[in-house]
Parts: sequence; C-alpha cells; structure tokens
Amino acid sequence: MQNKLIGVFDSGSGGLTVLCEIKKLIPKADIIYFGDLKNAPYGNKSPEEIGALTVLGFQKLINNGASEIVSACNSASANIVLPLLDSFKIKPENIIEMVGPTVRAFSENRDARILLIATEATIKSGIYQNGFQSLHVDIQTLALPHLAGAIENKTSHPALLAMIGDALEKYNGTYDTLILGCTHFPLVIDLFKRNIPGGVTIFDPAEVVAREAQKLFLLPNSREWANKEKGSIRFIISKDSDFFREKVSEFFSSENYTIDVLK
Ligand code: DGL
Repeated sequence: MQNKLIGVFDSGSGGLTVLCEIKKLIPKADIIYFGDLKNAPYGNKSPEEIGALTVLGFQKLINNGASEIVSACNSASANIVLPLLDSFKIKPENIIEMVGPTVRAFSENRDARILLIATEATIKSGIYQNGFQSLHVDIQTLALPHLAGAIENKTSHPALLAMIGDALEKYNGTYDTLILGCTHFPLVIDLFKRNIPGGVTIFDPAEVVAREAQKLFLLPNSREWANKEKGSIRFIISKDSDFFREKVSEFFSSENYTIDVLK
C-alpha cells in the first residue's frame, strides 16, 4: 500500500494558512506542499489557465508521492476541471477543496448576512454564489483583485490596510459575517480586524477544510502514523521567495521541514 502523504496546493504562500490548521488537527501527518510561485498570483488569470495550472500542480504533488490532495487555494478550487483530472488519473475523491466545506459550515447558520471576499477568478466563477444558493442563503461578494499578489510581494502594511479599507468601506452595515474566500487573506487577518465594524465575525475557512482532511484522510490508514511523534513537511516551490521562507519559519519553526525550489 502506498504511504500516506497529504499534498497541499496553492499558488504560493496562502495555503500555509490551511496547512497550519491541518498540522494542529493531524500533527503526525506527513505533508508535501507545493506553492506555484512562478505562476502566482492565480486570481487574475482566466479559468482555462487556472484549470491547467491546477492540474499540473496536483500532478507535481502526486509525482512527489502525495496520496491525497488539499486544494488550499480558492481560485484553483473554483476552476478544477474534472475531465482534466481524469486524463491525469487524479481521483476527485482524493481531493478536498475550499468551497464545499465553507458552504456546509453555514448550513446551521442561514441567517448570517455574509460578505464573501476573494480573488476575481473565484468571484467570477460563481462557485460560492451557487454553493450558498443551494442553502437558500443570499450572499454579497466582493473581488479584491490585487490583494493576494500584494501580500505575496510584501507590500507594506499601511498600503495593504488602505487597500482593504477602501474596498470594504461601502459595505459597512450590510453584513455581519466576512468570509475570507482567499487563503492569502488570513495572512493579514489583523489588517482586516482593523477595518471592519465591531460585531462583524471573520470566518476563515482553513479550520473547516482541515477538519474535512482529518475526517477523510486520517482514517482508516491512521495506524501508519500512530507511533510517530511528529510528521514531516516537504515544501516545494516553483520559484524562490523570501516571503514564503519567512512565513514557513514563522509558522512551522518547531516542525521537521525542508524547502526545495523545483523550477
Ligand atoms: N490563495 C489563493 C486563493 O485562495 C490564490 C490567490 C492568487 O494566487 O491570486 O484564491
């Protein structure tokens, strides 16, 4: 039987926010993470480009031993092309994406007045709108087309704060729940907290996605990890990045990890 190795995929550093939650819930899991920094950001690309990059990213994880995948990128999750997965022999049942777990988290809370913010590609795909519609919940959506790239490029916090503030201001009073529909956004969650009115709850999907991974991937093969103290993490990036390295050492300093730049 193939060893269990959870693959985590993002365009860059955003998926690290999901990986943090996975490590909290499944500390013994062995992980391989691919950040496609050479092609980041994804959020301004066409659905066809994102679909193709996503399948190549998944394939890279599988070629490097991943037995299952968490698509820790909303823009990728919104543009997964099932027939492409099939032609690359990637099984959809071995993939967890961001949208389903996020929408399901609100099934008991249909009165929430939601503002969902994400990349342009995610909003344009309509995937969250359709998901919430199936719960009969109307949501407002707002694309922040430049924010993920600006975070990845180490834009100063005052500039990011202004960008977030300008975008959100006109929605004040119209929502009580802000969903961070891009995994880069929790990297600057403090800037969001400074920009939203009191009483608004911020929902970061990372935790519910990690719970889904725990539920689907941990059993029935968890015995493999039973005798281990801690799992290992192998990071692969398609382009070197100081920001990525800084975030990895900030979040995972107590983990056994390696970083490889595979161009
Ligand atoms: N972190 C990703 C997301 O959740 C991608 C952001 C980007 O590359 O534009 O959408």
